[in-house]
Amino acid sequence: REIDGQGKVLMPGFIDMHCHLRDPGLTYKEDMETGMKAALKGGFTTLVAMANTKPIMDNAEALKANMDKADALGLCDLVQVCALTKDFSEDDLVDFESTREYTNVYSNDGHNVDNEGTMKKGLAASTEYNFILATHCEPETETVERDIALLRETPGHLHVCHISKKDTLDAIKAAKAEGLDITCEVTPHHLYASAMEYKVHPPFRSYPDRRALIEGARDGSIDICGTDHAPHSDEDKLKGAPGINNFETAFAMYYTVFEGAGIPVERLSQMLSEAPAERMGIKAGLVKERYAGDLVLVDLDAEERVDPKTFISKSHNTPFGRELLKGKVLMTFKGGEIAYDNGSLV
Ligand code: DOR
Ligand code: ZN
Ligand code: ZN
Repeated sequence: REIDGQGKVLMPGFIDMHCHLRDPGLTYKEDMETGMKAALKGGFTTLVAMANTKPIMDNAEALKANMDKADALGLCDLVQVCALTKDFSEDDLVDFESTREYTNVYSNDGHNVDNEGTMKKGLAASTEYNFILATHCEPETETVERDIALLRETPGHLHVCHISKKDTLDAIKAAKAEGLDITCEVTPHHLYASAMEYKVHPPFRSYPDRRALIEGARDGSIDICGTDHAPHSDEDKLKGAPGINNFETAFAMYYTVFEGAGIPVERLSQMLSEAPAERMGIKAGLVKERYAGDLVLVDLDAEERVDPKTFISKSHNTPFGRELLKGKVLMTFKGGEIAYDNGSLV
């Protein structure tokens, strides 16, 4: 089949370093299949799924079960995050020996690790077992600063999830200047909007915070564009569940911001694909051969209004329901095959 790419842009498949697939246990919000299909529609071919499932992903059997499920589906590649501590407790670390076989990212997303001793042991383990420790310590800049201080004493591979504040970014810039092994990620919603009431964790910030994040994306101090895709049912949102359904709008939200700020799309591509690949592959030693033939064809001139009714995701929670966005994913290729084509999964 011949594909007309005239005037379009072909990019490497996007690698989402931070999403929530809700499988197992919370599959009324999303399951692996609906999540991965929504992701492919959004141009994401590899997903790093956080561990706050039910039960929590804190042992090798659970990780293996999800990796097998992903293999059977054959949609996206999955990096299933393992919790740092059993059941997200404050002090009971998971068994790294057995879990490391299935993952190279550990994180207690949704829960901050308050216990410094635990965080120190986690950092030491990230060096010993060669994995990325992703910390959910934003929204508090003080906690990011604490983690940086711990990293200074105990070398490790630290990744700071969903940064939302200028102060946090400044702390991370300083840590990078010291030569510490630290990376950070931003979400589409914190780059796109400020001062909104919609419940998300971390919350929407001020306009100056948002501007600082955009400059961080431009100058390279922010490494990675994630999604923090956090699907929730209408009922759970009414009860106050934090989170935004992002897979199907992330690229257009990011591109709209980048284009508006005059940041080249090549930089966005780095942040969506190259940087997360490098962070999880080269430094952490993930050896599986990935990404070959994972591609996204985008139309950068297309403008479209978001319509959550058209989401493939099981949930529709977004405050950007009528937003006019620029940039559209036309096709997604997985392993050289067409996986998503202009509105339908193949
Ligand atoms: O808003 C959020 N919701 N932020 C997170 O990091 C977790 C997520 C969730 O699991 O719903
Ligand atoms: Zn989080
Ligand atoms: Zn999250």
